[in-house]
Formats: sequence, structure tokens, C-alpha cells
Amino acid sequence: MRVVALVSGQGSNLVALLEAIDGGRCAAEVVLVAADRPARAIELAAGRGIATATVPLRKGDDRAAWNHRLADAVAAARPELVVLAGFMRVLAPSFVRRFPRRIVNVHPALLPSFPGANGAADALAAGVRITGCTVHLVDEGVDTGPILAQAAVPVSQADDVMRLHKRIQRTEHRLLPAVVHAVATGALDLDGPTWRDEGALSDMPLYAPLLVR
Ligand code: GRF
Repeated sequence: MRVVALVSGQGSNLVALLEAIDGGRCAAEVVLVAADRPARAIELAAGRGIATATVPLRKGDDRAAWNHRLADAVAAARPELVVLAGFMRVLAPSFVRRFPRRIVNVHPALLPSFPGANGAADALAAGVRITGCTVHLVDEGVDTGPILAQAAVPVSQADDVMRLHKRIQRTEHRLLPAVVHAVATGALDLDGPTWRDEGALSDMPLYAPLLVR
């Protein structure tokens, strides 16, 4: 399954996806990694010989034109799935409509709680004892699309935002490749979205223990 990954940052989810592919745990091929800014994730992809594109959005730029340029770059790679792996921009409806039900995002909270750019910080501030991560279909809202899979992460009293987010990310690194694999194998049909094989995630722990080795 041809995958285009959109990134803005460090690329730890991208690396997890690539490692799962290399390890035979994810039946996908990342054909392009595209970013909205210079990003470490782009360097990591280029270092692995993957095609990259940076379509920068600067202050004062025409957002509609930027969405169009980015969508053109993505479409040229003929993706079967577009994965937002730490992509920190909201895509315009025009972009979303070009890849209907074929864009997934990983979010560092249990949606519909704590949408937006600060999922881990907002959960910590709210005092919840369990948070987690969500992989969902991208629709025209912000973190509002149909939920595909979730995994739970406990909050420790010793957590600060960084520590909690790191623990959530370790769980994202398992959940995202597993969901991409489920799409590739047909266990998850994005057109419903419908899980055709609800056991597809059963061999992965969906709860991250507080004490991580
Ligand atoms: C992840 O925690 C993801 O949930 C959020 O952005 C972060 C990206 O991290 N959307 P990375 O770039 O994959 O390391």
C-alpha cells in the first residue's frame, strides 16, 4: 500500500512506521514524506533514501494556494493512504476532499477529549488519570474525524508535559503502524470505517504500563 506521510517535526512516528515496515510488521511503502517547514523528519526520510518534499507555509502566504500546492505534491505520489505523522497544520476542506476517507492522523489524547495542538498538556492540566492516543480519519474539522483505534496511557503524579507526551508517543509508535497495517491488509475498511477483523490489534498491548522499561 502506497503511503504518503505528512510531517512537521521530529519524526518519531515516521521512524516507527518505517521500522515496522522494515521489520515486516506493516505492509506499506512510504513513497513520499512531505512537510510544511524544514523538519528533522524530512532529514530522516532523506537519509533513508525516501523521496521528500517541503511545501513551506510562511506568514502572510495564501493558505488556499498552499493547500493546493501541497495536495498536488501528495497526489503526484499516488498514495493509497495519507498519514499525518506529527503534521501541525490544519488541512483545508479542499485538501481533505481530494483524498476522501484516505487521510489518518495520530493524536496524543483520547479523543474526543483534548483535541488541538496540546493534547498531552491539556490532559495533564485537567487532572485525568488515564489519557492515551488516538488514530482517526481526518475530516474537515480539527481532530473530529471518525475514531479508528485508541490506546490508553496512565498519568503519573510525577509527570510533566514532556514526560507524559513521551510516554504517549511510545504508545503511538505501536498503534499507528498497526492501524496502517490493518488498512493495508483489509482488516480495517476505511470506507465505513469498519473493522472487518476486530482482532487485528489484539496482539499489541493497548494499555501502556506506567513503569516502562
Ligand atoms: C505526536 O505526538 C502526534 O500525536 C502529534 O504530534 C507528535 C509528533 O511527534 N500529532 P513526531 O514528529 O512523530 O515525533
